[in-house]
Amino acid sequence: MENYKRYLNDPDINRILDTVNTMYKDIFTVCHGRQHTLFVVDIVETLLKSLDYDERTIELGKIAALMHDIGNIAGRWEHAKKSAALAKVFLDGSDPPFSVDEKQMVLQAIEDHSDGANISSPIGAAVLFADKVYGTKKRLLPNAHLVPFYMNMTEIRKAKSDNEMEIEDANVYVSGKDIIVNLITSDTFNKKLFLSGWDIPLKLKRAAEYLSCTCRFQINGEEVRITNIEVITLSEEIKVIGLSFHKLGLPETIESIENMWKTYNEKYRNRIENAVVPVVDYAVNANLLTDTHEYIAGCTVAEVGELDENWASFVIPSGRYIKHTSCITSELHSTDMEAWAKTNGVVINKDFLVEVYPGGVFNEGSLNYVLHPIQSE
Ligand SMILES: [Fe+2]
Ligand SMILES: [Fe+2]
Repeated sequence: MENYKRYLNDPDINRILDTVNTMYKDIFTVCHGRQHTLFVVDIVETLLKSLDYDERTIELGKIAALMHDIGNIAGRWEHAKKSAALAKVFLDGSDPPFSVDEKQMVLQAIEDHSDGANISSPIGAAVLFADKVYGTKKRLLPNAHLVPFYMNMTEIRKAKSDNEMEIEDANVYVSGKDIIVNLITSDTFNKKLFLSGWDIPLKLKRAAEYLSCTCRFQINGEEVRITNIEVITLSEEIKVIGLSFHKLGLPETIESIENMWKTYNEKYRNRIENAVVPVVDYAVNANLLTDTHEYIAGCTVAEVGELDENWASFVIPSGRYIKHTSCITSELHSTDMEAWAKTNGVVINKDFLVEVYPGGVFNEGSLNYVLHPIQSE
C-alpha cells in the first residue's frame, strides 16, 4: 500500500480535500470532502478484500476512491470528469510504478463514479457502490430541498422534526455473494417514507452485479425488501386521463408506448388542468380481455372534464388490489403475479392493470408499482 499512502499524505491532495470540505459545508446534502472520501476508501477496501481481489487491485481501488471527488474544487458541474483530469496530474506527476492500463482503470473509475451509467472495472464498481452508500447515509441533511421532487415536503419536514429520518451510520459487509448494506437508524425512523423516495438501490444493484454479487439492504439488521408485493385497499376511486393508444391508432409495439410517453412528457405533463399534484405518471392497461386493448399514458385528476381528441379517461375503482412495488421496472413485469395470487388465495381480475410511476416513467430508480385488481368474491 506504499503508493496509496503516498497519495494519502500528499499535501496538495489534502489541501484539496480540506477546501472542498469548506466549500460545500452549507450547500449540499452530501459532503464531498475528507470525511466522505475516507468513508468511500474504507468501503472500497472492504468490498475488494472480501471479494478476494489481489493487493494490487485493492490499492488501485483505494487510490481511485481517494481522488474520486477532488474535482469538486472546480465546482459541481461535471465534477467526476474534473476529478479524473486532476487525478491524472497526480498520477502522471509522481511517477509511481503503474502500468498505462492501471492508470487508465483508475481514471475511468473516477470519471464514471457519479451517475453510475457506465462501469468498466471492479474498481469502478466498488467506488460507485461506496459513493452511493454514503449518499444513502447522508441523504437527508437539513437542506432537504434536494430530495427527489416527488417527495412530499410537508411530510418530510414533519418526519425530520419527529426524528424519523436520521440515519446514523451505514455498514457494508460481504457474506458469500451478497453485499449487504445495513443502515443504522433511530427507533423512530420512518422506513416507509424513506423507501418511498429512495432512488439509490438501482445503482447499488448494478455495481454489485458487476462484481458478480447481489445487493441486499437492511435497516438496523432487519432485511428491507426493495421489491414488495402486498394486498392493499383503495378506499376511493382514482380518475386518470391521458393520451390514448387506441384513439391515436398506434401499432401495438413498445416503441409506440415510448413515443406516447415522450409526447406526453414534452407537451402535456404539468400543464393538465385539475391534475392532482405532485403529478404522478399513471399508465392504464385496459380492455385486456378483448381485442381492443387500450393504453392510457397520463396522470390522475380531481375531475375528468372535457377531453381533447386522442385523450381518454379511466376510473380505477375503489377496492382491493395487489400492489407490486419495485425500483427495478423490468421486475414489475417479469414477476409471475398469477402464481403469487394463487399462493396467497386471491384471484386477479385480468381486465385491467395500472402502472404507477411516482418519479416519472423515465426515472427508473424510483419505487414504481403496479396495481392488479382483485376479483371480488
Ligand atoms: Fe462525486
Ligand atoms: Fe463522492
